[in-house]
Amino acid sequence: MVHAPEVTTFAKDRAAKLDRISDEVDEVNVLKLKASKGEDVNIDDKFWEEQSKFDSEKDKTTFRQYEDACDRVKSFYLEQHTKQTLAYNLKMREEFRKTVRARMSIWEAMELLETLVDESDPDTSVGQIQHLLQTAESMRRDGKPEWMQVTGLIHDLGKLLCFFGADGQWDVVGDTFVVGCKFPEAIVYGSESFKANPDYNNPELMTENGIYEPHCGLDNVMLSWGHDEYLYDICKRQSTLPKEALSMIRYHSFYPWHREEAYQHLMNEDDKVQLKAVRAFNPYDLYSKSDAPPVVDELRPYYEGLIKKFFPPEIEW
Ligand SMILES: [Fe+2]
Ligand SMILES: [Fe+2]
Repeated sequence: MVHAPEVTTFAKDRAAKLDRISDEVDEVNVLKLKASKGEDVNIDDKFWEEQSKFDSEKDKTTFRQYEDACDRVKSFYLEQHTKQTLAYNLKMREEFRKTVRARMSIWEAMELLETLVDESDPDTSVGQIQHLLQTAESMRRDGKPEWMQVTGLIHDLGKLLCFFGADGQWDVVGDTFVVGCKFPEAIVYGSESFKANPDYNNPELMTENGIYEPHCGLDNVMLSWGHDEYLYDICKRQSTLPKEALSMIRYHSFYPWHREEAYQHLMNEDDKVQLKAVRAFNPYDLYSKSDAPPVVDELRPYYEGLIKKFFPPEIEW
C-alpha cells in the first residue's frame, strides 16, 4: 500500500515557491477580471442566471497590487510556455495513468496540501486548506448546490503534484492553454512568449487546429499539464461529480478560453454549456481569499459529509 508521501525539507522548499507563484498568478487574474468586469461574465442560462451575490457585494478593491510580482510572474510564464510541449504532455499523461502515487482520502489530501503554505512570506494570503474552505463556504453562502460546494472544496488538490516529482511551478500552476495547435494571442504574454518552445517552430503544429479536428470538443484536446488536468483525470475516474463540476476543475485556469474566448474553433455545443459553469465558478476561486479565515475543525464534519456523497473513502492519487 502506498501511503501519503513524506514531507521533506526539499518538498517544503519547492512547495513554498509554488505557493508564492500561485498567489501571484491569481493576483494577475483577479486584476484582469476586475478590468473586464461586466463584459465577460455573461451568465444567462437559467441555472446560473441569478447574479452571484457574493460576486457583486464583495469589496474587490482590497487586494494588494501586483507590480512587484510582475517580473516573477513573467519569468514563470516564459518557462512554462517554453517547456509545455506536446511531447511533454503526452509523456506526463502516460506516466500518470500507469502508477498510483499515493492512497489517501480527500480530507487527508487537503491536510497534506496544507503543508504547502509559504511560511517565509509574511504577505502570503491564506493556507491552501483555507483557500479551499473559503471557496466552498462562499458557494454555500450563495446557496449553490452540494456538488458545486464539493468542487470548490477540492479544486486545487491537483497541486499535490508538487509531492509527485513535479518541478513545482511551471508544471503545476499558471494559466493553461491547448497544446498541439497554434498558441493564440489570448494567452498571457501572447504567442511570442512561446518562441523557445520547440512546438512553436513546428509548422505542422502551428496551424489553427494543429493535431485536432475543427469543433472536436474540448474533451478531445490536451490542456497544458498541471494541477487542473491532473485532478480532472482523478475526479473523472473516481468520483460521481457531474460534468459541470469536472469542467470547473479542468478549466479553472484556462483563462484564454473562459475569459478571452479563444479556441472557439475547437468547441462543440456542449462546451458552451460547460463555459457557463466555469465562469460561474471563477469568482469564488479568485475573490474568496479575503474572507475571514474559516475554522477548519468546525467545518470539517459538514464537508466530510459532502465528500462522502461524491467520493469513495480512499482515492488513488
Ligand atoms: Fe487552481
Ligand atoms: Fe484556487
